[in-house]
Amino acid sequence: MLSEPSVATVRATLPAVGAALGEITERFYAGMFAARPELLRDLFNRGNQAAGTQRQALAGSIAAFATHLVDQPDRRPDAMLSRIAHKHASLGVTPEQYAIVHEHLFAAIADVLGEAVTPEVAAAWDEVYWLMANALVALEKRLYEESEEPEWRRWEVVERVADTDDVATFRLRPADGGAVTGFRAGQYVSVRVELADGARQIRQYSLSGAPGSGVRQISVKRVGGDAASPDGEVSNHLHARVREGDVLELSAPYGDLVLDDATDTPLLLASAGIGVTPMVAMLAHLAEAGHRAPVTVVHGDRSPAEHALRADQEAYAGKLPDSAVHLWYEQDAPAGAHTGLVDLARVPVAPGTRAYLCGPLPFMRSVRAQLIERGVAPADIHYEVFGPDLWIAQG
Ligand SMILES: Cc1cc2nc3c(=O)[nH]c(=O)nc-3n(C[C@H](O)[C@H](O)[C@H](O)COP(=O)(O)OP(=O)(O)OC[C@H]3O[C@@H](n4cnc5c(N)ncnc54)[C@H](O)[C@@H]3O)c2cc1C
Ligand code: HEM
Repeated sequence: MLSEPSVATVRATLPAVGAALGEITERFYAGMFAARPELLRDLFNRGNQAAGTQRQALAGSIAAFATHLVDQPDRRPDAMLSRIAHKHASLGVTPEQYAIVHEHLFAAIADVLGEAVTPEVAAAWDEVYWLMANALVALEKRLYEESEEPEWRRWEVVERVADTDDVATFRLRPADGGAVTGFRAGQYVSVRVELADGARQIRQYSLSGAPGSGVRQISVKRVGGDAASPDGEVSNHLHARVREGDVLELSAPYGDLVLDDATDTPLLLASAGIGVTPMVAMLAHLAEAGHRAPVTVVHGDRSPAEHALRADQEAYAGKLPDSAVHLWYEQDAPAGAHTGLVDLARVPVAPGTRAYLCGPLPFMRSVRAQLIERGVAPADIHYEVFGPDLWIAQG
């Protein structure tokens, strides 16, 4: 809870901080990476930094947290904190690193806002930062304690399958021959690879196999570049260099886009492109758990040839007592599938449906709006973003 005087100060300075967020963010990262280059090389996603995409997420979420504290002081934004804590835990973020972020973030704030940062203003925002940081540290501590695995574990690729021209599936077992621990359908692991220049870069990949299958499976889409942007570093590294017998470093499974175990709740699983990966694991879990209520599978892709894991998606859906699969392709749609972008107008949506979404942001925005129009409660719509979650920063 924010102290009374700080509430007034934060409320009064929120507009100025919000307006300067872009500049604060830029100086914060520049200062932090100049002082601690290893953080950019071995922890942060340097592609996101170069493209500017993750930058707003961290500072933006602090502003969103501050807004929440002053508007709804009695409620904690647990969903936002949990989402960030899972991401941090998958990266191995430590409590000590919060002091580093604090130092450089507050230096940037003082730099950008100048004399407006009186001792009173600095103290109020300090309070916001540490309230959030301590909440995250506590959540992350619990996640680390609950995890049954070391933070980074070596896994051997026991099989590599070309799903489509651009998607490869890797099946992995612990290199030490130890047991494969379980995960909750929808969760992801971080994969850490050493690149040609010695940098160790980390990316997240959803687990795309059945939770109890005894192997860990990820399906990676190669991110191609163009004139303005280079090829994605880690996805291309995995495609070009990692074969059966090679070893990868994986984090324990994390992520809060998971199913609860109510077998009588109607579900709608909507994905587009490589967003199919957590949905396949969810379908596998539902089939295994004997989910009785209707399950509606919705998937959109550019073409059937680009639709990864389609056979698994349809096979697991086929094992459910009450399921329907609706497919959309922008081109080459076969009989039984639709042409164009996902349109739920003629898809039955049962009352009380809970929806899980994964795909590009425009897809999720569109599906979310359609579901709300069809009477699905916003609180029943859950999503995963395969990149920096900028929705978080919007609170
Ligand atoms: C929770 C979660 C689950 C995920 N699950 C999956 C999954 O199951 N399967 C999957 O394939 N992916 C998944 N992803 C995405 C994955 O983590 C990576 O983001 C993806 O593989 C791209 O990583 P990369 O290293 O290849 O690209 P990066 O090197 O990170 O590049 C990303 C983008 O930034 C651009 N970029 C880089 N440098 C610059 C620059 N200097 N200027 C302009 N643009 C630049 C690149 O062109 C590219 O478009 C998931 C992500 C998250 C967060
Ligand atoms: C109160 C302090 C912090 C806040 C509010 C915060 C917030 C966030 C948010 C919102 C994201 C994006 C989550 C998502 O996309 O799902 C994120 C990602 C991340 N955070 Fe934090 N964070 C904090 C502290 C830290 C610290 C101390 C570190 C370690 C030095 C750190 C490292 C990262 C990394 C590496 C990512 C992934 C981004 C990328 O690789 O591009 N964060 N954080």
